[in-house]
Amino acid sequence: MNKLKIPVNTPSFSGNEEKYLLDCIRTGWISSEGPFIKEFEDRFSSYIGRKEGIAVANGSAALDVAVKALRIGVGDEVIMPTFSIISPAQSIIRAGATPVLVDSDPLTWNIDVDQIELKISIRTKAIIVVHIYGLPVDMDPVIALCKKYGLFLIEDAAEMHGQTYKGKKCGSFGDISTFSFYPNKHITTGEGGMILVNDHELAERCRKLKNLAFEPSGRRFVHYELGWNYRMTNMQAALGLAQLEKIEDHIKRKKEIGSKYQDGLCNIKGVQIPLKETSYSENIYWVFGLVADSETICNNVVKKLTENGIGTRPFFWCMHEQPVFNEMGLFLNEKYPHASKLSRNGFYIPSGLGLKDEEIYYVIDSFKKICIDLQ
Ligand SMILES: Cc1ncc(COP(=O)(O)O)c(C=O)c1O
Repeated sequence: MNKLKIPVNTPSFSGNEEKYLLDCIRTGWISSEGPFIKEFEDRFSSYIGRKEGIAVANGSAALDVAVKALRIGVGDEVIMPTFSIISPAQSIIRAGATPVLVDSDPLTWNIDVDQIELKISIRTKAIIVVHIYGLPVDMDPVIALCKKYGLFLIEDAAEMHGQTYKGKKCGSFGDISTFSFYPNKHITTGEGGMILVNDHELAERCRKLKNLAFEPSGRRFVHYELGWNYRMTNMQAALGLAQLEKIEDHIKRKKEIGSKYQDGLCNIKGVQIPLKETSYSENIYWVFGLVADSETICNNVVKKLTENGIGTRPFFWCMHEQPVFNEMGLFLNEKYPHASKLSRNGFYIPSGLGLKDEEIYYVIDSFKKICIDLQ
């Protein structure tokens, strides 16, 4: 086969996206006021199984609001995985609180739930779980700890649209759960995010914080605390609604892509592929990640894939090794060996919804050839 050029992600728009977007232009509802917002919030929250949804500008904004809405602040500690995108850590730090890190499970790549209790102190106020790459965190032990110690649970389900834990949707567990709709997610709004809660008062607090902390009643432009402009536009919600109508197709296709890669890449020496399932969930393959036995193998494989026109992304870089945090004096001399290995040796290959079967087979063939040549 001729060399293809395959980006790491390509979204898919096969439903009512154009129609709903055109409606925004024709009616003039283009800002954060407009009918698609409430409809998207209501439909997404009921799809996940929560009472209320608050649409926001992106998944990181959702975490900022979540942390502040729970009044987490100076002197508080929040437990989270070191292997994560930076968003939860920066939300905690900007709130004046301190992230307390936990190593990863080397098989699921999620927070090692057995190590969480050791990190709970008198200052611990919350646990943020981050479901990573396609398999959820083992939630029961985390929920038990939150109950035992009276902690809030924030569920970062940015990558986990439609995934279930023991049959119940991810994003339905935390006091607050958050989602991202960046274009590499199972459904996208271009940029965008959502906060989900069951508690009405908390929902109202989130709505206020994402809207410059305007007081819902009282004199407009008089403020009693600081918020953000994290509003989603009607155009983003229009896109989101059309995507949500297709979510089951999207999940099915992502699983198909994952299972083709599983079959094609299962016997390659020197590279770990994702688990297909655990006792509580099947993988939904937000991305198809791979972990090489060494950093050198990882770098060589990624280089050769690039030469073959195949897009890749490195895994997240652990929080305890982030220069920005180390310069603040945080996490110095802390060691989390499993997470550090994931960061150094891990990368993912194309798995967007727009990926064609012939492209998957090309990636598999190229990958196998590269690994044989490197041995
Ligand atoms: C687990 C997780 N949390 C938060 C985010 C941040 O979302 P956004 O890029 O929409 O700010 C991402 C983004 O991919 C993510 O993977």
